[in-house]
This record gives sequence, C-alpha cells and structure tokens, in this order.
Amino acid sequence: MTQEKLASPADQPAVDRAATWTRRHLLDVDDFTTAELDTVMDTTDAMKEVMGRDVPRVPALRGKTIVTLFYEASTRTRASFELAGKALGADVINISAGGSSIEKGESLIDTVRTLQAVGADLLVMRHSASGAPYLVARHLKAAVINAGDGWHAHPTQALLDLYTIRAHLGEVRGRRIVIVGDIAHSRVARSNIWALSTMGAEVIVCAPPTLLPAGLRPSSADHGPGPEGDATEPLAMPPVHVDANLDRAVEGADVVMTLRLQKERMQGGLLPSVREYATLYQLNEERMSRARTGALVMHPGPMNEGIEISPALVSSLQSVIEEQVTNGVAVRMAVLYLLARGGK
Ligand code: NCD
Repeated sequence: MTQEKLASPADQPAVDRAATWTRRHLLDVDDFTTAELDTVMDTTDAMKEVMGRDVPRVPALRGKTIVTLFYEASTRTRASFELAGKALGADVINISAGGSSIEKGESLIDTVRTLQAVGADLLVMRHSASGAPYLVARHLKAAVINAGDGWHAHPTQALLDLYTIRAHLGEVRGRRIVIVGDIAHSRVARSNIWALSTMGAEVIVCAPPTLLPAGLRPSSADHGPGPEGDATEPLAMPPVHVDANLDRAVEGADVVMTLRLQKERMQGGLLPSVREYATLYQLNEERMSRARTGALVMHPGPMNEGIEISPALVSSLQSVIEEQVTNGVAVRMAVLYLLARGGK
C-alpha cells in the first residue's frame, strides 16, 4: 500500500497513518496493538477536522456501499454509522430484523450473502448472539464491523470512549479509570477493558458480585465489599482491579464510566432491588467528589437516569456523555475509512 498523505485539499481528510492499516474486519479490540489504536485515534482526528467544515463531507468512500444490519435495538450506534458513511460519500442502506426477510426466517448467513450479492462493501452488524460477526466474517468478502454482539464486544464504543478520554486527558497510560455497573452483561465494559488496558490505563471494575463476569468475580472476602477490595484476575481478560465498593473505587479516579443496568439481559434474581442498587452504585455528585478534580463522567448510553447515574451529574460540567456521542461519528468515519482501504 502506498503512503497516503492526502494533502488535505478540501475534498479529503488528512490521514497520515492509514497506510499501516492491515485489518479487513473490526470484530473486537481485544487483539489490537497500541499502534493500531493510535492509528484509529489519529485517523479520527482527521475526521473531526472534516466534521468541523461548513459542509462536512468528503468523497473518500464514493462508490462504496455500507449496509447496517441490526438485529437489536440501537439509536446512537446505528445513526452514527449512517452519518459517518454519508459524510464519507458512501451509499448507506439500513436493514433491521423487523421488516426484512429475517422475519420470514432467513438465516443469518443467507441474509449477509444476499447483502453482499447486491453490492455491500462494508457490513455493520449488531446481533444478540456473541460471536455472530465472527461467523459472518468467515463467509463474506465484504468488511464486517461489529456494532455489538451479545455480551461480548462493542469495539467502536471502546474506540470512541478512548478518543474522548484522550481528547481531555492526553496520555491514557497510568490513568485510573473506573467502570461501574452491570459489567456482567456489558459488551461495552469488555471492549473498554481491552482498549484501555492496552493503552496502559489502570482499570478498576466496580459492581455487586452478581453483576461481575465469572472471570472477574472476587474470589475471597477481602475482594468483596469489605476492606481492600482489589484483586488482579488475568484469566481471559487483561488484569483489572475489582472493587465492590464504589466510594472506594472512585477515590482518585481520572475517569468514571457508568453503565446501564441491562434488565433485558438479566435472568432475574441478580439484585435485591433496583432501589438498593441505586443506593450503593449510583454515580452522583457526592461520589464524584472523591475522584480527581476535573475527572470525567462517562456513559455509553442509553441511560437510566436516577438508577446508575444521577440526573444532576449527567448535566454537570464533568460529564462528557454528549461528547461521546458526537465523537462516535468521527470514530466510525475513521473505522469505515480504514477498512474500506482493504486489509489482509
Ligand atoms: C450499548 C450497547 O448497545 O451495547 N449502547 C451503545 O451502543 N451505546 C450499551 C447498552 O445497551 O446499555
């Protein structure tokens, strides 16, 4: 691939590092190197510049067709992929499970093969089954982008979160980043743990033991709500600290990311009550006062205000929640741009 310094004339983003990109699909960030994460971040900078123009459009993906295929609900992820594709001059077609032949019982592989046959170059997919995009990637020549698979991964969310953190804090290495909430059911948490750990952050995971994935569950009393609640669990995931006590976890944090209680994924019986959960785990101004001055409050959305986060904190100066959504468009432009160039 030739070095592509698109001299930034008005119709192109100025991307320096894209020439090093080799991936064909974006399935997760669990195997990303720091250099690859940097490439996405730098490419996102170029896309932010495009987004800031009077007419935020470039023809970088003109002639390409992007299909979004969503088997699960979505607002921001889907809308931002669509906007990102259009900003790059691609044709974008949206397909949801309802209203397509999926309703008639068409299999996943038949559906994606059909989409490829009608000309899809890039397939953005969300599916309730963990691993579904991996299966699809094995059957397609088109690039596959995982927009969320079950409890497993949500790589573009982790990338936009990383971008937002870097935009505010610069260096991520050594930063204390707390992820609090329903970790067990969260693909956002899992992909964030990978991306942030790879960039050298100290990740602290905070949840009641029933909402921790088995691999991270505190294994002895001193890892629970009692004293010294931290543990290092390598297992399949990078090592993270686990602390069931939010007040303690937030102490000295640079970033606190809270997650939605995913009631639709719970089998029941995991929490005594939502009210008790809110008492112990709601992120609010009082709790955030234990973090570093100027620490960031993040949430991937959709939010249950008054449960995992207080309404006052959502609209506080520390909150970068809206910025996460805005950055989501530029990050997805970067990902589409990099993958459309065709990797290995
Ligand atoms: C998340 C998702 O769908 O994984 N939302 C998102 O994409 N921003 C988180 C959630 O559903 O709670």
